[in-house]
Amino acid sequence: MKIVRDRLSKAIDSGCVNLTIFGSEFQMTIDFTHLYSYRARNLVASEIREILKLMTDPEIISFAGGMPNPDTFPTSIILEITEELLLQPPSETLQYGITEGQTSLRSTLADLMEKRGAPCEPENIVVTSGAQQGIDLASQLLLESGRTVITESPTFIAAIIGFRGYGADIHGIPLDREGIVIDLLDDRLKKHARSDSRPTMVYVIPNFQNPSGVTMSEGRRRSLIDVANEHDLVILEDDPYYDLRFEGDHQKPVKAFDDVGRVIYAGSFSKILSPGLRIGWITAAEPVARKIAMIKQTVDVCTNVLSQGIANEYISRGHLERHLPKIRELYGHKRDVMLSSLEQNFPDGATWTRPEGGMFLWVELPEAMDTDNLQKHALERKVAFVPGRLFFPDGSGKNTMRLSFSHPAEDKIKVGIARLGEIIREELKEG
Ligand SMILES: Cc1ncc(COP(=O)(O)O)c(C=O)c1O
Repeated sequence: MKIVRDRLSKAIDSGCVNLTIFGSEFQMTIDFTHLYSYRARNLVASEIREILKLMTDPEIISFAGGMPNPDTFPTSIILEITEELLLQPPSETLQYGITEGQTSLRSTLADLMEKRGAPCEPENIVVTSGAQQGIDLASQLLLESGRTVITESPTFIAAIIGFRGYGADIHGIPLDREGIVIDLLDDRLKKHARSDSRPTMVYVIPNFQNPSGVTMSEGRRRSLIDVANEHDLVILEDDPYYDLRFEGDHQKPVKAFDDVGRVIYAGSFSKILSPGLRIGWITAAEPVARKIAMIKQTVDVCTNVLSQGIANEYISRGHLERHLPKIRELYGHKRDVMLSSLEQNFPDGATWTRPEGGMFLWVELPEAMDTDNLQKHALERKVAFVPGRLFFPDGSGKNTMRLSFSHPAEDKIKVGIARLGEIIREELKEG
């Protein structure tokens, strides 16, 4: 015991051991953060996750999470398909699968891409564990320290964290009602052409963007391709919300205007089937898809084979087509309730987007407001949202916020927005 104690006290002196004492027993937890890799050191916790952790209180009305409404999950159909799949030989569903994805799902996805206006072959598809893995695989392909990635500003927070983890610099380009402002993008790229930090990728979310709800116009989609061609950039098109359009006509993906294979398209079933199944896909030029599959092999060998089977049957038996109108109706209605509540309760000087689909809208408050402060007061009054600052690569946007309408019930949306309106008015008076 004495030897153990001596060794421990030496280790404690050297500052690398935490000691916990339970009765007379010692338990050691060695702190080896100094041995962490470059990427691990660069990764930071998402502040949204921290906000979501605060919300164990069932009385909180949350506009913070970006989760699909569980009422949209087709549980009984998933159960029926799963039973059928498991009655097949286990090599079909319980064995390791092909890294690129199961052949049947890849051809179903090629058909789906054709319907979206960007036809491709199954060889262009790599099935991924959600769009998040698509973003990560594209990052592994193109990013490293000393390189720059261009994003919309604001943009998806998990992408910011992921890109930073690879050591890339991030430059955000403002959005307007039609999406990323191409002139500003072009100016920025011209400046970069004279610097060492070379942009390799531009990351965009063209439909019902998270967090702003903005959809990129067709003109901008075409111009984005032109600019990327001129500056030799890859476009990572993240499109998990494509099918959640409840107003207006579908826009062709940026990929549809890509004649030379410059776009890597990331799709997902998280918002239209279930995020727990973890099924997404990448569409890319064949050599790029092959390289991405090589990277994926080192990450998870293959995407969950049972989930792939479920997604494939779900689409090919026509369930997706039948189910989509119900999801669109649910979210469209919630959006309308939120828009009219904002109209009734938010003060003059506040503006917001009017998304034609997706799950989010974006509010800009008068300049003097700080939504970090507002969030603290809102949580005390049991309403949650995400301060907009978190979505800006440069940490600006302190007077903005993201409101998600996918989850709360209609009456909760009304009550929550009324409360937020009250708090904002109070803060404006005090300020
Ligand atoms: C813009 C965007 N990209 C990617 C993802 C990740 O989705 P998935 O569940 O498909 O990984 C999300 C999820 O919220 C998102 O909003």
